[in-house]
Amino acid sequence: MSPTEGPTILHIPTQPYDDQKFGTSGLRKPTATFMREHYLDNCVQALFYALGEEEVRGKSLGLGGDGRCTQAAQTIIRLAAGNGFARVVVGRDALLATPAASALIRRRGLYGGIIMTASHNPGGPEHDFGIKFNRSAGEPAPDHLTDRVFEETRRVAVLKLGVTRFGSFEVEVVDPAADYLAVLQEVFDFNLLRGFLGRRDFSLVFDAMHAVTGPYARRILVEELGAPPECVVNGTPSPDFGGGHPDPNLTHAHDLVGRMWSDSAPDFGAASDGDGDRNMVLGRRFFVNPCDSVAVIAAHAQACIPHFRQGLKGVARSMPTSGALDRVAAALGLRCHETPTGWKYFGSLMDAGLCSLCGEESFGTGADHIREKDGLFAVLAWLSVLAHANRDVPEGGPLVGVEDIVRQHWLTYGRTFFCRHDYDIPDAAQAAAVMQHLGGVAAGAAEGAELCGRVLRSANDFSYTDPVDGATTSNQGLRFIFADGSRIVFRLSGTGSRGATLRVYLEHHCADPARLGEDAREALRPLAGVALELSRLEHFTGLREPSVVT
Ligand code: G6P
Ligand code: ZN
Repeated sequence: MSPTEGPTILHIPTQPYDDQKFGTSGLRKPTATFMREHYLDNCVQALFYALGEEEVRGKSLGLGGDGRCTQAAQTIIRLAAGNGFARVVVGRDALLATPAASALIRRRGLYGGIIMTASHNPGGPEHDFGIKFNRSAGEPAPDHLTDRVFEETRRVAVLKLGVTRFGSFEVEVVDPAADYLAVLQEVFDFNLLRGFLGRRDFSLVFDAMHAVTGPYARRILVEELGAPPECVVNGTPSPDFGGGHPDPNLTHAHDLVGRMWSDSAPDFGAASDGDGDRNMVLGRRFFVNPCDSVAVIAAHAQACIPHFRQGLKGVARSMPTSGALDRVAAALGLRCHETPTGWKYFGSLMDAGLCSLCGEESFGTGADHIREKDGLFAVLAWLSVLAHANRDVPEGGPLVGVEDIVRQHWLTYGRTFFCRHDYDIPDAAQAAAVMQHLGGVAAGAAEGAELCGRVLRSANDFSYTDPVDGATTSNQGLRFIFADGSRIVFRLSGTGSRGATLRVYLEHHCADPARLGEDAREALRPLAGVALELSRLEHFTGLREPSVVT
């Protein structure tokens, strides 16, 4: 075979699987499921069939993941070779954080990329694995593509594997941080950040939760911006995330929370999830709700972040995310788009120049520099806000901290209290019964009706029509909005791999300066009671207490 010839192709017969439906963000299943014969291969082959045999020929594919299963990379590379791709660009050690994959695809003009991750779900043989496909703008695959993949998975009968010699097929191994860093350098003022992190009166900690962001945080915060190396904790990626649950929230990021609530707490704390796209930001003994976080960044973006120097083009949030962002948008004269849960819905708004910054209650924050949410983006955005606020504060203080910024924000815009209660329901049929019951309540309740002692303004099942491509997505969560502006949303998670998780999102706006500092869980307790009564949750599931509150 001459070096210009393609790889030798093996055609391997296989049995289709019928459970390979992509959820909110890719296909996630127990690792043991992915270990079934040709399970991963089938799914990737179906993806290539769905993209089109002619379409993928000669193209370049990005590949990497959060380190939870590096053997999968071998399989995907062979399938790419067998299906006619010309080249695979893979992160060293098969690592690529999700935002870094998005940056790599965009900067190198790749056809798309496969990300091997189950995000914040725990990893290792006992837990979960997953894959996602992102397209050439770096954005997650849209529903019409993942629906096509699902159809293909049910009939894929032959795998095409490239073997023996790869011939003209190329595998390029790249530094997983280089393209991402280059993109972030265009977004932020690294000199401003370097100066701020160099202050002796400012301290920070970044908890990588044993996941993929450790090397990125070291490269960016320590090597580029001069933060002390010990500021990155749990910074070595491990395939099972140190046995932990790599989800940056008050429950799972317990190391960080302990540190930020201790007497020796640094000024700023942050954590990121398994694949580096989620974030949590904390001040000293202070939690920044993600709904507030994106609103604060929006309010300060133009002044503090060079990428937004011309002003924001618009902003967006997922439907269950609180209305804090809407208030900033209104003050800035911007459109705030309300999309279904899932990052994929922001991409088309960004491509059309309708949205520069967006966020979700599920600890996602991001901007149009890439097409994924981006944990380190949020961290650098907050550090930029702090650096700017302290630009005239002499070393030795008093430093304007995270809490000061958020409290000032509430004084200006009012505070939208927000909480999410998650109920893990092992029997998915019970969860479906709750939703069916609620659907009936919503359909039967008119404006002005009294529900559980509150006057209803509206109740409906959220559906969304993309303003750019006109695609409609329905059944995205049941929402009950009351006359006092408070809101309850019920929705089933689309990222779980077992049973079902019912999410109950509670929100209430308050402009009374005397009540702005209340504890969110306390402030929302009455509304949580309404949610339980309305849903008859205990009747259907036997559950009274949420599994997790964020
Ligand atoms: C992933 C998606 C997010 C989404 C989140 C929660 O992280 O990328 O866009 O908000 O999952 O999804 P779920 O369906 O579990 O509520
Ligand atoms: Zn993630």
